[in-house]
Amino acid sequence: MEKIFGRPVVTQEDMKRRIEELGRQIASDYAGKDLILVGILKGAFAFYADLARAIRAPLLVDFLIVTSYGSKAKTSGKVKMVTDLTEDIKGRDVLLVEDIVDSGLTVQYLVKALSKRKPRSIKVCALLSKPKRRRIAVKVDYVGFEISNKYVVGYGLDYQQQYRNLPYLAVLDQVDEEGHKT
Ligand code: IMP
Ligand code: MG
Repeated sequence: MEKIFGRPVVTQEDMKRRIEELGRQIASDYAGKDLILVGILKGAFAFYADLARAIRAPLLVDFLIVTSYGSKAKTSGKVKMVTDLTEDIKGRDVLLVEDIVDSGLTVQYLVKALSKRKPRSIKVCALLSKPKRRRIAVKVDYVGFEISNKYVVGYGLDYQQQYRNLPYLAVLDQVDEEGHKT
């Protein structure tokens, strides 16, 4: 599988170093708080597992699964929660863990939906951000790496559900920034 991809967008070494930094920062920012780390599946699974272990502080783990309508590679703008959390987040400090923030629609939807459950705080941590593609100005409190508009796969991110298990992040040629085949 790795033969079809070129140079990693972010090397595994840089990824590891940055996630350790984020983990230290989050552990310090949430000292004495009631942290619940909410992974947005499927895309965040690889980042989540590494980030959770880099936060050397007490926390709860939980997950939700979202899909966007339609079969397009990127979100169509209508986000749907298909599997909900198992924990009650009322009064807790929620940190959403996302693979990538692109248009901002997914984050906006989730922050709005989860805020109704009255958490004490709700923040967002994304491994990747494409600031130039934002359609909604969402606040991303922790960002691993800002990247260009190119479509990337690996380390949890997919193209039509494939390549999530590639151990590093790579640009998928033949696919435009909207996730359409060129
Ligand atoms: P947003 O709602 O437009 O911010 O998009 C967020 C979702 O779109 C992410 O959670 C990914 O599932 C998907 N996405 C956006 N850009 C990429 C990419 O370059 N590769 C793979 N998935 C992407
Ligand atoms: Mg996706």
